[in-house]
Amino acid sequence: GNSILTDSFGREHNYLRISLTERCNLRCTYCMPADGIALSPKSHIMTYEEIYTIAQKFVANGVTKIRLTGGEPLVRKDVSLIMEQLASLPVELAITTNGVIVDRYIEQFKTYGIQKINVSLDSLDALKNESITRRDYFTKVYNNILLLVQEGFEVKVNCVLIKGFNDNEVIDFIELTKNNKLQIRFIEFMPFDGNKWNMEKLVSLEEILQQVHNEYDVKHFTRLNDQPNDTAKNYKIAGYEGSFAVISSVTNPFCDSCNRIRLTANGQLKNCLFSTSESDILTLLREGKSIEPIIQKAIISKKKIRSGMNTLDKFKDPNSHNNRSMIAIGG
Ligand code: GTP
Ligand code: 5AD
Ligand code: SF4
Repeated sequence: GNSILTDSFGREHNYLRISLTERCNLRCTYCMPADGIALSPKSHIMTYEEIYTIAQKFVANGVTKIRLTGGEPLVRKDVSLIMEQLASLPVELAITTNGVIVDRYIEQFKTYGIQKINVSLDSLDALKNESITRRDYFTKVYNNILLLVQEGFEVKVNCVLIKGFNDNEVIDFIELTKNNKLQIRFIEFMPFDGNKWNMEKLVSLEEILQQVHNEYDVKHFTRLNDQPNDTAKNYKIAGYEGSFAVISSVTNPFCDSCNRIRLTANGQLKNCLFSTSESDILTLLREGKSIEPIIQKAIISKKKIRSGMNTLDKFKDPNSHNNRSMIAIGG
């Protein structure tokens, strides 16, 4: 098509990720530095009216899916209002959450048609979980995941694997899909500001599949068809109710089929998870100016190569500030 959301490689950006807040009730080590991040002043955070206005424009220009992210989207006080307003748009609404308080939102998710819920859970061991999230909510999150499944939501569990830490839990996680209709997604650890990334901590797609092959008979292990623009490679063990997947952004980047655009909580448009330049949509909106031209400019400037991740070298310096911390992007 020739909408403002189509880039010069013909990629249509019909999936908008909106971060509602930079705050979170957890402190995951791979997402934020131990001493936190400098939060944007409250006046720089999009109000619910601004979120709605911006979302409306994206939908009018071809966005068909909106995922709410954070920080933790559910800690935002007016999240219900935001969900209600976005639900009035002709768009598929989804949310990515840490699961700590999702039980309070079951009825609202149903009312607002939020069916796809991705929840982070990195270990099935309470102590390990506490060491990653720096908080003690394992039982709460685990039970909430089972509750969501029971209530009929389409649940994906995001598990960031770290070498020598939780990579011995791959099979335990897959075994969770035996009797639970959910998907476990193993995610390659990605570099962001302040998360002390290095290649040695990464557990690759190849290593994960090796573990699976060692455990399960090849006859019982199948690759599923991926959804269009899927971040994940999907698999299933025959007879299991759920499935598992691997998001291998580092060793197998999926940039060629990227259909994503991101709006940060402080109203900046990021055309790539790893982009270092951002477009200040919020200021334009507040000045009463049209935001469509800047959206188009951000999309058109996308490179087909793995924007910002075409070389991993610059991520080797733990103090480099090339990007934001994950908590201020939203994944
Ligand atoms: P679905 O809508 O279920 O496909 O979810 P999703 O995979 O788009 O989103 P989610 O918020 O659950 O993110 C899962 C993982 O994928 C996180 O580690 C994200 O950072 C990563 N991810 C999401 N979008 C991108 C992207 O455009 N590029 C890369 N490299 N990783 C991404
Ligand atoms: N690398 C890979 N995935 C990450 N997430 C957060 N930080 C990282 C990282 N450094 C994931 C979390 C969350 C999702 C939105 O992003 O698992 O579920
Ligand atoms: Fe919070 Fe999610 Fe970041 Fe963990 S990964 S600190 S739950 S935003």
